[in-house]
Formats: sequence, structure tokens, C-alpha cells
Amino acid sequence: MKTRFTELVGVEYPIVQGGMQWVGRAELVAAVANAGALGFITALTQPTPEDLAKEIKRCKELTDKPFGVNLTILPALKPPPYAEYRRAIIEAGVKVVETAGYNPEEHISDFKSHGIKVIHKCTAVRHALKAERIGADAISIDGFECAGHPGEDDIPGLILIPAAADKVKIPMIASGGFADGRGLVAALALGAEGVNMGTRFMCTVESPIHQKIKEQIVANDERATDLIFRTLKNTARVAKNAVSQEVVAIERKGGATIDDIKHLVAGARGKVVYEEGDPDYGIWSAGMVQGLIHDIPTCAELVRKIVSDAEAIIAQRLDRMAGRG
Ligand SMILES: Cc1cc2nc3c(=O)[nH]c(=O)nc-3n(C[C@H](O)[C@H](O)[C@H](O)COP(=O)(O)O)c2cc1C
Repeated sequence: MKTRFTELVGVEYPIVQGGMQWVGRAELVAAVANAGALGFITALTQPTPEDLAKEIKRCKELTDKPFGVNLTILPALKPPPYAEYRRAIIEAGVKVVETAGYNPEEHISDFKSHGIKVIHKCTAVRHALKAERIGADAISIDGFECAGHPGEDDIPGLILIPAAADKVKIPMIASGGFADGRGLVAALALGAEGVNMGTRFMCTVESPIHQKIKEQIVANDERATDLIFRTLKNTARVAKNAVSQEVVAIERKGGATIDDIKHLVAGARGKVVYEEGDPDYGIWSAGMVQGLIHDIPTCAELVRKIVSDAEAIIAQRLDRMAGRG
């Protein structure tokens, strides 16, 4: 399956595993790479830039295929040392980076000057065009369905992807709500050159989270998400649970500040969810696409099935509809 995106990054299939805090570790990323897709280690999951360098080395020991690193730039009271993480990525010889979040300009230009391909993930056409202007090699565009940060415009993929495809010239992959061959064909039809998936890859054998959380994703349906931080204009789509409902209730009362909810939303509590398997212990990210996830395959099984289902849809269903089958 060749697209402009597979050519750009040198992978077999137009399927990407996006950055995932606490989940995007070497074992998952290497399994995605060995399956012929593109995985991203999540830089900020590693407590220090030195730990990130070790994680990249560990991933290289597990695969000889291309993989990348995600650098997420979000508003923070105490920002992580971004420049040092960036340096660790460059010095480790990583070939592809996924940037996400605010003001990626200095990061993109530094990565580019070291010959690294940059895919910028964003949630609005205007941000995609800006990333193209400042030198990104590809765009990943996240519709409102997505896990994590969908932005504040609330434009679902069915509109956002073709709206972006009409304007963006560099290769673009579609993100948010993708899990299967139908999604991949739809993304290609809408003008994308592949798909980026988070929640689906989180629910695989090699994903380094507790089995009970994977089983919770399988049990959950498409309604099992909440939007938190709406009132703080930093919306996040997370798995619906006792804690997310409490946050939503506090925000609904109006006038809430981060101080009113920070005991509930602490990242450290989310980390414990993945480690200990109690889905109600803290906030954890998951998308509406949970409604399309019914199993826990290996990454190789998942990628193989997505590709063979997509090929079957194109060669059988669509060709027949076009009168060629
Ligand atoms: C558990 C989890 C953690 C995530 N953490 C990050 C992150 O740290 N940085 C980032 O750019 N995106 C993050 N995302 C978003 C994904 O990279 C991807 O854009 C999103 O999951 C796509 O939507 P989907 O879950 O419907 O496939 C996360 C997603 C999940 C499920």
C-alpha cells in the first residue's frame, strides 16, 4: 500500500501509532514498526531527556525498522525542558518526529536542520497550513472524535479531513476515530494518505498497560468518553469514569479554575490507572472509537487485518459499486 506518506517515512503501510502519554514506550513502538507501520515513542513519558535517550536505544534493539518520537508541547505551570528533550531526540539519530500542540516553530526548524522528517499533529485547517508554512513535512489532522486534545472548534473528521485536504499540499494523515479497514479506506477517500490511531493501538497485546484497562476499552462503547477542561479552553477527550464525571460536574457549576480540579486530574493518578488496572482511579485518555474496538490483537495481527480489509473493500465492494466487479 503505497501513498505519499509511506514514501516520505519509508514504511510499508500508511498506518501510524501516534504519541500516547504513559503508553508510547519502546515495546509498543517496536511492535508497530515490526508490523510495517510507523510508531512514535512519547518523549514526555520518560522522566528526563537521558531516560528518553535510553528508551530510543531500547527500541532500536527491538526493531531495525523506522520509528519516531512524539514531542507534545502543552501549556504547563512548570514546562518540561523541551530543548533538552529535542536535543536527546536529535542526538539519538531519530529520523521522524511527531510534534503536537502549541508553537512548534523552533522545534520544527531545529529538527529540519538536522535532516529529521517532521509530522505536525493539529486539530484545525489553519494550524495545518501554518505548520506547512513553517516547514513540516506532513500533517496529522485530528478530528473531534479523537482521544486526547481535540481543540476547541469541535469539527469532526468527516468535515475536517476533506477541508484540510482541499488546502494542504504536503502529505496528510487522518486521525481520530480510526480502528479498522473501513476507516482506512474512508480516510483515503477523504483525501488523506493514511491514518493515525491512538486508542486502537493502546488496546493491543504489546501495549504496555494493564490488561484490565484493555478489557475496559473492549467493554466500552462509543459513548464512553467525557470532554474535560472545556471551561479552561484546553479540552481533553478521556475515558468516561467516576473521576471524569466528577470533573465535568465541577466544570458545569461554572467558574472552576485548575485549582478546583487538579487533585482529580493529576497525571500521576492516570499513570496508576495503567499500572494497576483500576479504570476509576484517575483520568486516562481514550476516544469514541472504543465503540469499534472488540478485541486485543497483536500489532502485527491488527495491521495485517486493517490492510487486508481495506484492500477487500476497495477491490470488491467499491469496484462492484462502480460497475467494475
Ligand atoms: C492514552 C492516550 C494518550 C495520548 N497522549 C498523547 C500525547 O501525549 N501527545 C499527543 O500528541 N497525542 C496524544 N494522544 C493522541 C493520539 O496520539 C492520537 O492523536 C489520538 O488518539 C487519535 O484518536 P483515536 O484515539 O480516536 O485514534 C493520546 C491518545 C491516547 C489514547
